[in-house]
Amino acid sequence: SSINTADIGLIGLAVMGQNLALNIAEKGFRVSVYNRTSTKTDDTINRFQLEQKNCLGKLQGFYSLESFVRSLKRPRKVIIMVKAGSPVDATISTLENYLEPGDLIVDGGNEWYENTQRRAEALSSKGILYMGMGVSGGEDGARHGPSLMPGGPVEAWNLVNDILNKIAAQVDDGPCVTYIGPGGSGNYVKMVHNGIEYADMQLIGEVYDILRTLSQSSHFDGQLYEIFERWNGGDLQSFLIEITSQILQFKEKDNLVVDRILDQSGSKGTGMWTIQEAAKRGIPISTISAALDARYLSSLKDLRVSLSRQLHGIGTTERNTIISFYGWNDFEFLISELEKALFAAKICCYAQGMALIQKASLDEQWQLDCGEIARIWKGGCIIRARFLDRIKEAYKRQPNLLSLLEDEHFVRDLNNCQTALRRVVSGASLLGIPVPALASALSYYDSCRKEILSSSQLIQAQRDFFGAHTYKRLDKEGVFHSRWSEDG
Ligand code: ATR
Repeated sequence: SSINTADIGLIGLAVMGQNLALNIAEKGFRVSVYNRTSTKTDDTINRFQLEQKNCLGKLQGFYSLESFVRSLKRPRKVIIMVKAGSPVDATISTLENYLEPGDLIVDGGNEWYENTQRRAEALSSKGILYMGMGVSGGEDGARHGPSLMPGGPVEAWNLVNDILNKIAAQVDDGPCVTYIGPGGSGNYVKMVHNGIEYADMQLIGEVYDILRTLSQSSHFDGQLYEIFERWNGGDLQSFLIEITSQILQFKEKDNLVVDRILDQSGSKGTGMWTIQEAAKRGIPISTISAALDARYLSSLKDLRVSLSRQLHGIGTTERNTIISFYGWNDFEFLISELEKALFAAKICCYAQGMALIQKASLDEQWQLDCGEIARIWKGGCIIRARFLDRIKEAYKRQPNLLSLLEDEHFVRDLNNCQTALRRVVSGASLLGIPVPALASALSYYDSCRKEILSSSQLIQAQRDFFGAHTYKRLDKEGVFHSRWSEDG
């Protein structure tokens, strides 16, 4: 009875895989599961039995790959959720022996997009379809509805789109899944999503630092979490703002747990890949870089502790002068400026990420639809936010928008918020509060809106001076070289 009956199979029952399998079963599908180590299969079956009342479908565990594959309906569909890199290769190399032409493997890990393309090519010679699918939303997303970013051949998408549409997060304008594009584009979009997530988190972190620092010296009767709660009712509404408000209420005895957390933030690699990719393609994503650097800086704990005793910031008197100069004794005013600054910086950060996606799409001929990508990020994933609707609308108005900064609504928003961003970056800098992501967003904004970048004029002159690299001119056509000095 367990032969050729399951709708889909799932290999890899660590946190993400296990939750995704339960999600699939809950949506009414028959799912077969397998894991290299059998105890995880047992755990999954036990959990399924506990939760079964909510499940319309069936989940069956297998202890050999062969019987697992035999349980699947043809053409077989197998999602693999194992560690990215060589474990995926190892899994495929055994799995493929049991598969037939027309079957499909979907890798749901955070895989480097070129690995997906390499595997797809190798498997296509055997007629096996292959997709790389970004899965965002962590444990909870996987269990109750993630944002899914599948990339690969359209035939592959057609085989699984009914299942994916049901298991994805559902929002006002549909399920948070769409066919992203060919090749490794699904992994790529997920990678950039993670880069944006780094920047979004860092921006919120910096604003929190300013609030926390100033709440200790200015008159603020409320609680910090209330500010985030309030922001969550406005333009900044997002999962990350919402959980920040919850984090700022979470206490152990009478102390906030966040104050006791070691101030070193880790990363798992997708942020770094985003930066490397952007550099390779020549796309400035300075706010995302700033966020990654901030994580690296945080890990220099010993150095920071030692330098905190040696390098100076400003004194108390200056500090009070600055705070009153900015009008930040009025805490409500500070809050309203921070809200605007954060919003402006967020626009810059998403503009950078989207520009990278567009460049890759062009280079790789993926023909990605940025509006659809913004739409499927509206639910399920960590960066879900009301804001993504605006991005979706921007691409609807102008599908070939070169930069989000050019969208008429964002132009209006930026013009409305830029003064606040300036004041927040400068004020925080004077006070010695590090704001690398906010500052990078402001510099991005100012560089993008500058018709003539004098710094680049000078750099071209320097390059021609020391390396005869030549330069072009504003006032006439051609390529020029000057003899800049007597002995040049
Ligand atoms: P965790 O998330 O529990 O730390 P992990 O080491 O990241 O686990 O691995 C995640 C999944 O990839 C697990 O299902 C793991 O299988 P095991 O439970 O047998 O360890 C799977 N995995 C890791 N390396 C693998 C490999 N070389 N071949 C097959 N599966 C592998």
